[in-house]
Amino acid sequence: MKPAVSLQRRLSIGLTAGIALLWIIAAIVASLAAREELNETFDSGLEETAQRILPLAVLEIVNREEDGRSQRIAALQPHKEHLTYLVRDKQGKILMQSHDADPAIFNRFPLEGFTDTATHRIYTASALRETLFIEVAERLEHRREAALEAALALFWPLLVLIPLSLLGSWLFVRFSLRSILVYRGAIEARGAGDLSPIRAVQLPAEIDPLARAVNHLLERLRRALDAERSFTANSAHELRTPLAATLAQVQRLHSEAPEGKLRERAAQIEKSLRELARLSEKLMQLAKAEGGSLLPETPQNLLPLLRHVVDELSRSNTAARLALQLPATDTVLASIDADAFAILLRNLIENALKHGAASQPVEIALSADALLRITNAGPVVPAAVLAQLTGRFVRGGSVAEGSGLGLAIAATIARGVGASLALASPATGRADGFEVSVQFTRA
Ligand SMILES: Nc1ncnc2c1ncn2[C@@H]1O[C@H](COP(=O)(O)OP(=O)(O)OP(=O)(O)O)[C@@H](O)[C@H]1O
Ligand SMILES: [Mg+2]
Repeated sequence: MKPAVSLQRRLSIGLTAGIALLWIIAAIVASLAAREELNETFDSGLEETAQRILPLAVLEIVNREEDGRSQRIAALQPHKEHLTYLVRDKQGKILMQSHDADPAIFNRFPLEGFTDTATHRIYTASALRETLFIEVAERLEHRREAALEAALALFWPLLVLIPLSLLGSWLFVRFSLRSILVYRGAIEARGAGDLSPIRAVQLPAEIDPLARAVNHLLERLRRALDAERSFTANSAHELRTPLAATLAQVQRLHSEAPEGKLRERAAQIEKSLRELARLSEKLMQLAKAEGGSLLPETPQNLLPLLRHVVDELSRSNTAARLALQLPATDTVLASIDADAFAILLRNLIENALKHGAASQPVEIALSADALLRITNAGPVVPAAVLAQLTGRFVRGGSVAEGSGLGLAIAATIARGVGASLALASPATGRADGFEVSVQFTRA
């Protein structure tokens, strides 16, 4: 699956790219228009200069005593000329020139009006019936520089505009999406079993129907799960009494029956009934584990609960070989309902006693940071089998009786309280055995 793209990032980049593109197009159009205007202004400047100088030059030349002499007009102050001019006669003989003028840049013969050479734009005007010509030249490069500077002035603002627009649209989009972020937080913050409707405040019109659809879906899911759970729990509960009554009857039959086939059969029925009772008990536990309400109102101290369950098991099963390892502290607080913790613990210890090597003790250790570990000896369980064991009705290679629900119940409870349950075989620090560790979230 492709990684999800952030809407905020996409919008910020898209908006900025759009603004920059529009700006560039506008700047290009504006530079072209500015160049046109500049050219017109420069042309009119050239023309104006020629018209101004020409009468003075004519007067000066006509009043000369000596004819045909060329004169270079001295500069009043040293300066670089943008405009240079020549005054020539029809044959191209120079009669007067500005101090910087280079005759090589002009046309061979004066041509009236505007002309362009490779490097200059020239304006020529005539006087005395086209016998005297003034030619004013301006470097083309000077014009190009002016046009370029005007264009650059339009592009510089982009350097500020792009980061500003990125930041602005990023902040604006973030601001606009904040109700969606709050909504996401509300979904993320809820526990695994919480199917109550999600409260959403002022979502955008595009998202609001989605939120409503999600709530609708959650509601339907909750009802379906509730129905399933209550059915399982109720059936198991309803079976309890008739099962107990039937078991009592069968036990009576067993003791009253004469030695022989009938007695054996009664014993077998008794065994099957016990299994049935156990299965219904496990189903009830599973229904409770899936029912939510596994988190307590106040954190529970796991130590007394652990001691109580271990005592109870040792008393009811004299063969139980339980080795308890407790931390030096006397409180290990964790957020798990006391009943749920007892169910989880019983299932795990029962497994270790039932499936583990009968000759070796079962180690039950709780650490100060709420890590529970239950270890027993026995043959190694292959990794592929191990990975499946927490599924419902899944059994491993064990020969002991069971329905395959114990680990599923424990895993469901762990998931419901946000604890992590891990299976290992061989057990840590051993060559064989089985280990279940549950890390509870400390309160
Ligand atoms: N402590 C253990 N040591 C060795 N194998 C284990 C241990 N715990 C579980 N297993 C294996 O995992 C399987 C599944 O365990 P689970 O508790 O889910 O079912 P079960 O004990 O067989 O039946 P149930 O718990 O419903 O009576 C077991 O059948 C067994 O093969
Ligand atoms: Mg079990």
